[in-house]
Amino acid sequence: MNKDNFFNEMRKHSKIKLNIFEETLKVSISIANEMAKKFNTYNYVYIDLFAGTGLYQSGEKGSPLRAINIILNHKKTKNNKLKNFFVLFVEENKKHFLFLETEIKKNKEIYEKYNIFIEIKQGKWEEHKNCIKEYLKKSTFGFLFLDPFISINFKEFNNIIKDRSIRFKEIMMLFNLHSIIRNIDNEKALSSLEKILKIKFDKIIESDKPDEEIAHHIQKFFDKDFKTGISIPIDVKGKLKKIDYFILFLFTNSIGVADSFLKAYGSRISELYPHKKGGFDQGFNLKNDINEFLKSKHSATLYDLIVYFHKKVVSWKKAINVSVEVPTLKNLREILNKMDSDGKILITSSAPQLLGKRKKLLSKIRRKEDMEKIKIEKIPKR
Ligand SMILES: C[S@@+](CC[C@H](N)C(=O)[O-])C[C@H]1O[C@@H](n2cnc3c(N)ncnc32)[C@H](O)[C@@H]1O
Repeated sequence: MNKDNFFNEMRKHSKIKLNIFEETLKVSISIANEMAKKFNTYNYVYIDLFAGTGLYQSGEKGSPLRAINIILNHKKTKNNKLKNFFVLFVEENKKHFLFLETEIKKNKEIYEKYNIFIEIKQGKWEEHKNCIKEYLKKSTFGFLFLDPFISINFKEFNNIIKDRSIRFKEIMMLFNLHSIIRNIDNEKALSSLEKILKIKFDKIIESDKPDEEIAHHIQKFFDKDFKTGISIPIDVKGKLKKIDYFILFLFTNSIGVADSFLKAYGSRISELYPHKKGGFDQGFNLKNDINEFLKSKHSATLYDLIVYFHKKVVSWKKAINVSVEVPTLKNLREILNKMDSDGKILITSSAPQLLGKRKKLLSKIRRKEDMEKIKIEKIPKR
């Protein structure tokens, strides 16, 4: 990734990333809106630690302006219950910072009219940790976006995520394993990352599933129910490459937000590869993956199964045909119901109202407590 001309023109992979980011942020805000009364919390915090310029030279909006637009559109909805939005942008590069500041100033009055309070800090985010912590305390609900060129500094970030104020906030983070390998010149940075993550990059890259291996080490840092990774192909000279990709992670305690992330990924990938029949690799098939999961266990709860799927990196490389079978709750429910009808598994529950008349999983199951009451058993072959 060429850092110097990053903001000249938006490349395909950045568009995919930002589309998925937008869909996920929208759902996070709308869930906070629904929960506001119950939690008696009417504020929302949005923090972008690698903000960039806001606008690409080609005229496309970057993450800061997209986030503000989403917030503004939400504030204009009739159903809005959220009063204040506290927004913090951090950007190290002085030129990028000044550019972003100018863009934000253009609509300052509108933002203030709608109680969207925006602060922009210049410098490395690591120098603004106290300020970030203050922002995190401004509301129970929120979203942190971490979009570095390569990787965040996990050691420093660890400090922030240990804080209880992170509990109901989404964290979206990019990790570019391939850039790390290509930029081996910065050995000091590389070895400190290896030490923190307790890995050796040359071993990871040689393994069969480098994305899953690296994800496993990164996920350990985050104490969230759903630790979802998706891999996004990198566009090299206008073409999306199979071997070059980055992983976009979402760490959240909300199944609704995690679902929206996967759904957006499935849609983007289906649009990108509408004619791709037969898939790239082994084929991505939820039924196989469910069988794989149940192989070592006699039974599991629906919640265990969902957590398992969210820990696997979902990759476009495995897309079998037009529709990518991403493990959203809806897709899992449909496949599990079908497997139950076919006599491959048995679905039971200690709370029968969670199952329909035909003892099938219903769409209303979204709460962790309910998902834990659903038992899935493999029926042995005779
Ligand atoms: C990939 S770009 C962000 C793109 C942005 N999310 C968008 O969609 O337009 C990464 C940005 O982070 C900045 N940056 C790099 N290291 C940083 C750090 N430690 N703290 C704050 N900003 C940093 C870079 O100058 C660059 O502008």
